Order: sequence, then C-alpha cells, then structure tokens
Amino acid sequence: MHISAKDLAALIPTDFTLGVATAAFQIEGALTEDGRGPAGWDMFSAKDGAIVENHSPAVACDHYHRMPDDVALMKQLGVDSYRFSLSWSRIQPNGSGPVNPAGLAFYDRLLDELLANGISPMLTLYHWDTPLALDDAGGWMNRDTAYRLAEFAAIAAAAYGDRVARWCTINEPATVTTNGYTLGLHSPGEALMLNALPTVHHQLLGHGLAMQALRAAGVPGEVGMTNVYSPMVPNSINPLDKISAGLMDLAQNRLYADPVLTGKYPDLIRAAKFFGSFDHPDEDMDIISQPLDFYGLNYYMPTKVAVGPGEGAVPASMAEAMGSDLSAAGNGATPFHVKPWPEADITSYGWPVKPEYMRVALKEMAERYPNLPPVIITEGGASFEDIIVRDKSTNTTFIPDERRLKYLSDHIQSALQATAPGGEAEAIELRGYYVWSLMDNFEWSAGYNQPFGLLHVNRETLERTPKASYFWFQELIEERNLAAAAGAAVAQAASGEPDDVAVPSAAEVPDDGVTTSGASA
Ligand code: BGC
Repeated sequence: MHISAKDLAALIPTDFTLGVATAAFQIEGALTEDGRGPAGWDMFSAKDGAIVENHSPAVACDHYHRMPDDVALMKQLGVDSYRFSLSWSRIQPNGSGPVNPAGLAFYDRLLDELLANGISPMLTLYHWDTPLALDDAGGWMNRDTAYRLAEFAAIAAAAYGDRVARWCTINEPATVTTNGYTLGLHSPGEALMLNALPTVHHQLLGHGLAMQALRAAGVPGEVGMTNVYSPMVPNSINPLDKISAGLMDLAQNRLYADPVLTGKYPDLIRAAKFFGSFDHPDEDMDIISQPLDFYGLNYYMPTKVAVGPGEGAVPASMAEAMGSDLSAAGNGATPFHVKPWPEADITSYGWPVKPEYMRVALKEMAERYPNLPPVIITEGGASFEDIIVRDKSTNTTFIPDERRLKYLSDHIQSALQATAPGGEAEAIELRGYYVWSLMDNFEWSAGYNQPFGLLHVNRETLERTPKASYFWFQELIEERNLAAAAGAAVAQAASGEPDDVAVPSAAEVPDDGVTTSGASA
C-alpha cells in the first residue's frame, strides 16, 4: 500500500511545486512543418533497427497540433507548473543563424496558454534533439556546439524571458554522452567508448555559456540545469564490486555534478590519462560552475554494479527494451557491468523500483555538495504496461495503473521525508517534484513501448485518456491546496487579523494564477 493522498499532502512544505514534464521531440510530432529544420534524432530514428520495432517519432503525440487540449488536461489536473523543452531546430532550423518565426510562435502560444490557465512554465533549452546541421559538424564532440547553445539561449531569452518562471539549460548530459556517444544507443549513434569524454565537457560548457546568456538578458525567472542521479550500489561485499560501483558513480554521477557544483572534475578523472583528450582553458570551469538558482535532479532508480564485463554493460532485458543487444559496444568491453536487481519490483524497462534509494540519492547529494542550491526533482516516473478496461454500459474507459501511482506516491514521500527537518538530507531545500511524464510518448530508442504517462495516448486515434495515476495526482494537489488554505487561515487567526478576512478555499483559487502553496514562480 501507499500513503493516502491526504497524508502525503500533509508532508508537502509551502512553496513546493507539483508539476509534470515532457520533452519536445518525445511529444510534438510535426517534424517537417512550419519550417522546422531536421534534428539529429530525425535521422537516427529513421535508421532501420535504431528504434524498437522501427517506431517513428513523426507524429509522436501530435502535441504540436493538440497543444491547447493538452494544456486543458493539465489545468484539469491542477498542476502548479509544466516543464517542457524547446525544439531547437524548430526555432533555429540550422542550429545557428536565422530564426524561424513560425517555430518561435508555437512556444509563444504555449506560454500564453499556460499562463492563461494558471500554470507556471519551466522551459528546458536542450533536451537532446540537437539540430542535424550541428550533429553533422560533430555534435557535442565539437566545442562550437556549446557556443551555439548559448546563441540559442539568447534567442529564447529575448522571445520568452518575460513569461518563463524557471529555465533549465540542459537535461541529463550523462545520458547524451553514455547513450548517444559512448554506446551508440541514442542519436547520433556513436559508440566511441572513452573517446566520448569531450562530449561531457562541451555539454557542461554549453550549460555555463547558456546560463551566461540568460543572465546577460536579465531574465527574471530562476535558472538551473538538470542532471540524472542514480546511487551506485555494489553487488556484493567483494571489494572489487565496491570499487566498480565507485567508478560507475564517478562516470555517471560525479563527472557531471562535481564540475557544476564545485568547479572541478573528480580527482580520479583529472588524474586519468584519457582526460588529457579534452584539455580545456581553466576559465571554462568558472563558466560551468556559476551559481545556480536551483539544481535539477532526475531520479528514477539505483544501479547495482559488479566487477568484470559480465554479459554486457547492462542486463540483456534492459538493453533489449532499449532496442539493442549492445553487441556493437559495451559487450565485453567494460571493466564492470550493471546487474539486474532480482529481488526488486521492476518496471517494464527492467528498472528496479526502490523508493528508499531516492532518500539515498538526496543524502549523498547533501553530503557531497554542502553549497547545493535548492533542489527540484525535475523528473521521476515509471513505465509499466497499461491495462485498458472498458465499461460497455457507460462507454467509459478506465486505466488502473496502480503500480505507477504507487511508484509516484512512494518516491514523493521518500523525497519529502528525507529533506524534512530531522531527515537524512535535511540540508537540502527541496522545491518541487515533476512527474515524468504528462502523457505516454516517444521513449527514444524504446519507441512507444515504454509508457510513462499520467495520460494514456491511443496510438491510432491519439486520444488521451487519464489513468488512475492522473486522478491520484489530481487528488494529491487538491489535498495540498486544502491543507495550504487551512494553514493560511490558522496563520491569519494567530496574527490577530479580523475574522472576516476571507481565505480562499482551493475551489476558489482564481483562474489567472496559481495561488496555492505550490506556486513558487
Ligand atoms: C529523460 C526523458 C526520458 C525518461 C525516461 C529521462 O532520462 O530525460 O527524456 O523519457 O528519462 O527514460
């Protein structure tokens, strides 16, 4: 069982955002419309075998044409904030140079629609869909891409700066490097192994330069970036497993978090010879480690690590779900490997469901980075195959996704408890949780086979159907609003204000703004 929505709501502090997240390439479709230029992902996913069952992103969720309806579903859900990303090549078809007015206009409409519905926008500049022209010039192997991202940030700041409450420069550079350049599972499909290291530095530099551009434009919104974090757990007490987990932690977590939060790459990485392959000016580190208004953390699962190449870098079932047997790269080539977690509940991706490790993640972050800015969980969620139940008598559809609902409830609870006074990560000021994802979408190399949505999307009709998890999240937000209104009434009474000053109930929250405790921006 999971905690009741009411009891969970009681744990939510004031100024905590409850939101939902998506990314442009995963939902928009309309890849050739209104002057959008191609992205590297367009080409990658057109390659035979690159995506599970050769699913195509051409239509995705057709959000480009259904945006107002999707915003209406968010309004009905009651979220404080929506995290979305820009399609870079929709706005700047070649990744540099002229801007496409029709592309800019789409996000103008989206922002206006969100604000008209009282939903605070969180905008991610870069969520993996690099313009093809830049990929052709080397993508993130090329230092110039970082400067192009800064140019793009300046365009976005000028166009949207007045309306965006939170900016996220880049999303999960670790996944781009690992899946895109190390193992070749994602666009641009390079399997460069250790030679992929320059893509780490160039993405982080891109983040820093984009931040400078946003600050120079004077955007009033908060600015931060998002890293994924997975606690690395040794498979056994074998010291070599422990060392392996430590190396994996360096390669997947600290390689990306240390530079941003401390201005230094981890010592071991700096000492390693291969690091010489991307010598960089010292000033880069100042740019990368500029103060952030918030640190975005995506948490999905812990990772169990064992020494040796195993049967491949990741378990066969996980690789298969991602559309690869990893025979091109990773198999036998890595000094350690990821183990399945046999005793754990697993998602349909094969990811272990371990909400207690959300607490570990936050504790490790708090211990490692004493100057951590406020943290927002910018993504969390689970893919499970959904069962669609139809009631013929009323012609209604119901999707009882109890496992997703429980995943979300347990993880939000863990995050809140760990960061509450007395919790193991109490030093962290936790500002919000965004559910991945608003709707089932194009899950990169897994195509449409890994549904993460609160909304089911019918692949033939594209009709959206709220799942049980949607209704649960709606209830959680309502309970949170009621608790906040009650808290405000108590505070008012205690301050000796006259009794007749009305405190709006959740039901009376005006349409033009989010006035609950969750609206931080
Ligand atoms: C990414 C999303 C992705 C999700 C589930 C995150 O790594 O930011 O784009 O869909 O995980 O795999």
